[in-house]
Amino acid sequence: MKIVLVGASGTIGKAVDAELGARHDVVRVNRSSGDFQVEIADPKSIERLYAQIGAFDAMVNTAGNVHFGPFEQFTGEQFEVGLRDKLMGQVNLVMLGLKHIRDGGSFTLTSGLLNDDPIREGVSAAMVNGGLEGFVHGAAIVLPRGLRINVVSPTVVEESLPAYGPYFRGTKAVPASEAALGYAKSVEGAQTGRVYRIGWSRDH
Ligand SMILES: NC(=O)c1ccc[n+]([C@@H]2O[C@H](COP(=O)([O-])OP(=O)(O)OC[C@H]3O[C@@H](n4cnc5c(N)ncnc54)[C@H](OP(=O)(O)O)[C@@H]3O)[C@@H](O)[C@H]2O)c1
Repeated sequence: MKIVLVGASGTIGKAVDAELGARHDVVRVNRSSGDFQVEIADPKSIERLYAQIGAFDAMVNTAGNVHFGPFEQFTGEQFEVGLRDKLMGQVNLVMLGLKHIRDGGSFTLTSGLLNDDPIREGVSAAMVNGGLEGFVHGAAIVLPRGLRINVVSPTVVEESLPAYGPYFRGTKAVPASEAALGYAKSVEGAQTGRVYRIGWSRDH
């Protein structure tokens, strides 16, 4: 399969690249390096990316930014960061990818546990992750041509603990290679409309 991997140089993206790159032709896309560059918050940049890459079988996105900060100090502009980047960036990767993806292809997005297992500074991440999961449920039942869509929701990964550990006390971390299995299941399996929760469950 020809797989477009957006966010390939990131902590999760590198693990997805190692997992899928062993079996498939991975096109690596980042903001500032890789085979191609994109700014996912800018729909025109996404259009240019897809025009350059041509037809593909799967798009996996592991890029996305949200603002973290104390709830009562959140500004509209700070909420907009997550809406424009992690939420609409991923929505636009799907919508603008529709005319380039081959029949039977798949889209795989990235959310995270914070909408179900919130932390103090994560109100925007919680909102965005919930929005992404709603989008995937809504899109899965109407995608044409046998196309599929899923979202991977990893717990915090071990490689990120030096940076994020203090925000996630008491939360089990898993290696990024374990999170990558969710992406493999989405791309290489047959399911659609699923949220693959990796390393955590809602029963807590
Ligand atoms: N790390 C975790 O523990 C964890 C757990 C659950 C969920 N998540 C979610 O997983 C996603 C990736 O996290 P990560 O820790 O792997 O991030 P990361 O290490 O910071 O890597 C981000 C990747 O995405 C690219 N990127 C960032 N913003 C972009 C933009 N606006 N347009 C295009 N490319 C962009 C970066 O490219 P450049 O390097 O060129 O900028 C890089 O390849 C995030 O949505 C995060 O919320 C992470």
